[in-house]
Amino acid sequence: MKGLVLSGGKGTRLRPITYTSAKQLVPVANKPVLFRAIEAIRDAGIDEIGIVIGDTGPEVRAAVGDGKRWGVRIEYIPQDAPLGLAHAVKISRDFLGDERFVMFLGDNCIQGGISQLIEEFGHSQHNAQIVLKQVANPQQYGVAELDEHGRILRLTEKPRQPRSDLALVGIYLFDPSIWQAVEAIKPSWRGELEITDAIQWLVEHGKQVYPYVHEGWWIDTGKKDDMLEANRLILEEMPASNEGYVDRDSHLIGKVIVEKGAEIINSTIRGPAIIGENTRIVNAYVGPFTSVYHHCTIEGSEIEHSIVLEHSAIRDLPHRLEDSLIGRYVEVNRSPFKPRAYRLVLGDHSTVGVL
Ligand code: TTP
Repeated sequence: MKGLVLSGGKGTRLRPITYTSAKQLVPVANKPVLFRAIEAIRDAGIDEIGIVIGDTGPEVRAAVGDGKRWGVRIEYIPQDAPLGLAHAVKISRDFLGDERFVMFLGDNCIQGGISQLIEEFGHSQHNAQIVLKQVANPQQYGVAELDEHGRILRLTEKPRQPRSDLALVGIYLFDPSIWQAVEAIKPSWRGELEITDAIQWLVEHGKQVYPYVHEGWWIDTGKKDDMLEANRLILEEMPASNEGYVDRDSHLIGKVIVEKGAEIINSTIRGPAIIGENTRIVNAYVGPFTSVYHHCTIEGSEIEHSIVLEHSAIRDLPHRLEDSLIGRYVEVNRSPFKPRAYRLVLGDHSTVGVL
């Protein structure tokens, strides 16, 4: 079996972060979401993985490389424009050949990996198997209806009156019958080749399409609050460790991970939290569910339930920073000049909440 990870797309819901970088490379608990997808596929015993890339292709290639670090072989499949998930499958035909494969959306995180699912599909005669998750608000998802034999009967995108509460998670297993489907379907009203249309085509042409209902958590990290939620859930599962320096005036409470070269000086860190390589926390408080990535500084400030990307500095804030996603090379300081005022340089689509 082969793996296909989708790491193109527009990422409009995560602007302004996605103006300058790939959303799949945003670290969650200090590891890019995309790396977590690659590891889930590798852990299921698959060592040939294709990654579909778009505008952010060079950055994805630079971060992921040839896959040796995970013991897998990675091939890149450039997509000229984000023309839909089924389009991404269509252009991957040369890489996938006639093998069965798992397709994984590169911005999705799933608890417990996909090994069991791969095992089940590998031993089955199913033409496709679609991962579903029971959700409280099916109106907001693509939803699958099952027939009396437990097969998938119908898929509906964001139904007003859902007939099922089983949402499509971004993980799909296909056999070569998918090639006929992606050739046959036409672009939707939004101009994309929809994977739901391709799956519906399989159902309507007598193929065996089965669900796999996932029991653990699953997060599509396409928006800031979902990133923070994935960060919270993953941090909760990680054990404490300390490879950095913590001075005698500092307190680490609960599950705290201090990575190599990090320094904690006269500060309190209440876990679950992770402090990245060569990051300095000085006279500061870092609260639960916070991930501070590499080469950052948090000084004279308090931060909680947030993600900070590399090379950013937060200094002398008079109030606690919460529920925030801070990009790379960002400076958040107190403004010392008179008259007293906020002084901001914000990119398009930035959001700021002031007190
Ligand atoms: P989406 O999150 O559905 O789309 P998007 O990335 O364009 O984001 P937004 O809606 O915020 O503008 O895509 C799911 C995943 O699939 C994501 O990792 C990007 C990837 N993708 C492709 O690789 N090619 C495509 O044509 C599309 C639509 C998505």
